[in-house]
Amino acid sequence: MKLSDKRIVITGGAGLVGSHLAERLAPDNDVVVADDCSKGDPERVTDDAEFVRADMTDPDDVAEVVTEDVDIVFHFAAYTDTNYDDDRQLFEENGAMTYNVLERMDEVGVDKLAFTSSSTVYGEAPMPTPEDYAPLEPISIYGSSKLADEAIVSTYAHSYGIQAWVYRFANIVGPHQRGNVVPDFIEKLLDDPETLTILGDGRQEKSYLHVEECVDAMCHVVEHADDDLNIYNLGTRTTTSVNSIADIVADEMGLDPDYEYTGGDRGWTGDVPKMRLSIEKLSALGWEPSTSSDEAVRKATRQLLAELRAER
Ligand SMILES: NC(=O)c1ccc[n+]([C@@H]2O[C@H](COP(=O)([O-])OP(=O)(O)OC[C@H]3O[C@@H](n4cnc5c(N)ncnc54)[C@H](O)[C@@H]3O)[C@@H](O)[C@H]2O)c1
Repeated sequence: MKLSDKRIVITGGAGLVGSHLAERLAPDNDVVVADDCSKGDPERVTDDAEFVRADMTDPDDVAEVVTEDVDIVFHFAAYTDTNYDDDRQLFEENGAMTYNVLERMDEVGVDKLAFTSSSTVYGEAPMPTPEDYAPLEPISIYGSSKLADEAIVSTYAHSYGIQAWVYRFANIVGPHQRGNVVPDFIEKLLDDPETLTILGDGRQEKSYLHVEECVDAMCHVVEHADDDLNIYNLGTRTTTSVNSIADIVADEMGLDPDYEYTGGDRGWTGDVPKMRLSIEKLSALGWEPSTSSDEAVRKATRQLLAELRAER
């Protein structure tokens, strides 16, 4: 599906990925951003898109934005903190949002959905992990909620005529991000330049993709994959350890802090310590990342540092 001259709804569009996608798509499309602003900031949404404050757990709010003239919904709204403290709320509300969006699409005949899943559906799988790896055994409530969402998206794709693109993201980094490892380290070092507390033992090692590349890959997948249900890993071929992220952030800030560790091989219950996705399927579709995981982290650090310093 060509992404031009379309009416596009982005749920959760005031967040990291959605705000960048809106900026990318708005010049050539009619873009509506729907967000309840629980985490996202409407100030980050481009003026070229229409912004609607709407709660995707409320079917009436969903009906307000998902109207019959919409060509495709990018559904990103979710609780996105992988160690969120209310497990039941995260599981139930993420599921409710996805169900509400699909049910409404079916009701008014909107038949294209792009959905953001996560590497966490794989649990602690061998690496690099391909899309057809099984069994899928998530180890966090967040990963379970994404897998449950994928199941309902699959059902609507196969039985209700809704064509779907599902992205299993590695870790996405970039400006406008909050509550993730890179902005977290920057904030901690702005508060205390001498000491940095690192969750776990610092040897957790994951693949990081810059949000600009993520958005580029997402558009490429929608424009080039044409099955009823299209599942793609999005990531880089390399990984970055948490210790290396700390080194990159300290280097960019011109600091040499002492590192203190909370201990254990993972940051929190349900944290997958090592993650690297196979991107061969994406590569075969004609898309390659242009930066390594380390380069993505460094670029995001520079951008976030400017943003967070300006906010103080
Ligand atoms: N960033 C990553 O590393 C990553 C990795 C894997 C998957 N994902 C998924 O990609 C999507 C986008 O992630 P992101 O990094 O931009 O997250 P984000 O937290 O920056 O954005 C999510 C947005 O959803 C909004 N939202 C939450 N509940 C809502 C509700 N009830 N109604 C309307 N809006 C609501 C928030 O206000 C926020 O703006 C999410 O579904 C996330 O789970 C992200």
